[in-house]
Amino acid sequence: MIALRTASEIEKIRESCGIVHEALDLAGSMIAPGLMTEEIDRALDGYIRGRGGVPSFKGYRGYPASTCISVNDQVVHGIPSGRRLLEGDIVSVDVGVVKGGYHGDAARTFSVGAIAPKVERLLAVTREALELGIQAARPGKRIGDISHAVQGYVEENGLAVVRALVGHGIGRQMHEEPPVPNYGKPGTGPELKAGMVLAIEPMVNAGGWDVVTLDDGWTIVTKDQSLSAHFEHTIAVTEGGPVILTRGGDSGGAM
Ligand code: MF3
Ligand code: CO
Repeated sequence: MIALRTASEIEKIRESCGIVHEALDLAGSMIAPGLMTEEIDRALDGYIRGRGGVPSFKGYRGYPASTCISVNDQVVHGIPSGRRLLEGDIVSVDVGVVKGGYHGDAARTFSVGAIAPKVERLLAVTREALELGIQAARPGKRIGDISHAVQGYVEENGLAVVRALVGHGIGRQMHEEPPVPNYGKPGTGPELKAGMVLAIEPMVNAGGWDVVTLDDGWTIVTKDQSLSAHFEHTIAVTEGGPVILTRGGDSGGAM
């Protein structure tokens, strides 16, 4: 069953999402060559708790950290560590917050110093694919319309969408129905209704779409070791169109 949230529930989700957005801004302000990924994790954990939230990833199915930080060919679920960022790296930071019983979830991929133009393009295409997926999230449309919008744009640009991991409904729990794949056919899947809240999260590889899990049981990497980017927003489907909750302010601001 896909939950339909009331306006007051969506405001509670928005509150958690605002903390996620600010934590990602903090990560962006810290990222520089030489920084250890666990330093980002520590800072964001402190920030989230200082805002009255709880980092929802910590302890989720035994996950050991407060954020997921995935570098270069790491797609998602990278465990923060003593690894130092290097000029030219890309780093995906994924943050979940629960406050007042409601969850928010978002991710961004940042560049470390100057990156190659084709890597810049990987990030831009992934960000735009998310934007197009969000624009498809309207009452009367279907989940497959979101999936198709994401996949079509990514593949037109010669890049590949990861298939093993999907977006999700979110609200009282971090992961709720329905799954939101980043590939699929238009007009298929559950119908979208006002009040649905979804985490849409394209993961895009510069090479092939296939991924493998490392021996730590968490870190997902590209099978061909190509670079991978990840952008995620929590959005509400409303009669007036999609509303991005993990963007802060009036949701008209920058990603
Ligand atoms: N943000 C991830 C998602 O969207 C969840 C992270 S898994 C965790 O589904 F174990 F790290 F929490
Ligand atoms: Co998510």
